Amino acid sequence: MDSLVISGGRRLEGKVEIPAAKNAALPLVCLSLLTDQAVKFSNLPNVADIGHLKVLLNDLGVNFSEASQEFKCSEIRSTKATYDLVRKMRASILVLGPLLAREKKAEVSMPGGCAIGERPVDIHLKGLEALGATIKLDAGYIHASAAELRGCRFVLDFPTVTGTINLITAAVLAKGETCFENVAREPEVVEVCDALIKMGAKIEGHGSSRILIQGVDRLKGLDWTIQPDRIQFLTYLACGAITGGEIECYPYRKDTLNAVLQKFAEMGCEIVEKTGSVLLKAPSLLKPVDFETAPFPGFPTDGQAQLMACLTVADSSGASTIRETIFENRFNHVSELRRMGADIEVTGNLAVVKGVKSLSGASVMASDLRASASLIIAALKAKGESTILRVYHLDRGYEKLEDRLRALGAQVRRERN
Ligand code: EPZ
Repeated sequence: MDSLVISGGRRLEGKVEIPAAKNAALPLVCLSLLTDQAVKFSNLPNVADIGHLKVLLNDLGVNFSEASQEFKCSEIRSTKATYDLVRKMRASILVLGPLLAREKKAEVSMPGGCAIGERPVDIHLKGLEALGATIKLDAGYIHASAAELRGCRFVLDFPTVTGTINLITAAVLAKGETCFENVAREPEVVEVCDALIKMGAKIEGHGSSRILIQGVDRLKGLDWTIQPDRIQFLTYLACGAITGGEIECYPYRKDTLNAVLQKFAEMGCEIVEKTGSVLLKAPSLLKPVDFETAPFPGFPTDGQAQLMACLTVADSSGASTIRETIFENRFNHVSELRRMGADIEVTGNLAVVKGVKSLSGASVMASDLRASASLIIAALKAKGESTILRVYHLDRGYEKLEDRLRALGAQVRRERN
């Protein structure tokens, strides 16, 4: 398992080109199941999760051409997403809606929990039942079938991101009108709807908490450019913030990170939003801030660990409070940050971070995708050398991170072992 070795204490500065968003690419690629025409992306991210999804989609009947970067599902070969594939990548649940829409049946392994929480899919299933599907759970599998899918009105108990997407991808080919309320408003959800509209779907209200869908008989193919990854975007800004540096990230889709940019500004960073990019100029000492994670447009849970890392070295005259309201176990990075000298107290879903004068390099263990990023950010500031173990977690969602950090002045190398 690879590890990253970082010598901290260097000020990062420069420009970073941000790759396409993993959490947009995953659902967008699943749209290939909804049509027998080609679905093509100009900038598919080269991360492990996309690789896993290609294997699953191939089993289902989606052929991918490396040359043309096209996905094409002339016919569904199988409607079964097996446990060994789904356990590697829980977002495989995103094939459920499209399989039901296209083939009126699906057998998808329950995704199960992960390091950050239980991750139930009850809302996905209740919404599909509202559309007319019969859902049975047996031996760890979701067995879904429907004579036909019919429009409905359904209020989601929680604005689940993949739940919203699953329900939309099922409803676009249903008979009649569907109204979903209390849906997720994340930019990745909006992008999936925009792509579906380009394929011929009839959707309005996306980006708000109420979406109206008129079912259509079939969908065309797609040629699409995926939006930049706003979570990688904020991660590199955090690398600049903690090292007193100056980082400009591009491309940037306006209004996708307002809550995060505002927090960086409260921490004392100068934020300059330009057309298509954001420049962060960090102070020598960050100010403590308070925030809690929330569904979009609130502060994204996927950025919580990264900003916590920055706050471990904020001005010790005050303390920062971080409340994680989305997942029940998303403080896995705390124990490892403490091993680097951070002063963090956790009570339930609240973390109180007291800034320390300095962190010390250490060997630390990555536990999930965003916790890995948190440890890297801390290591960039820490005195001495840090080794981040099990960076396969990182490779799931960050493309060539060490190359990009080196280009910004970091001293980092990957050790293959
Ligand atoms: C998506 O996960 C993202 N993953 C996550 O990113 C992200 O953290 C999350 O949205 C929240 O923004 C992808 O897009 C592939 P949820 P998702 O359903 O859809 C509860 C990363 O690091 N819930 O919005 O699985 C659930 O327990 C990953 O890139 C139900 O109760 O998240 C959780 O507490 C991590 N029932 C909350 O909703 C359901 O049926 C948010 O989950 C579904 C969800």
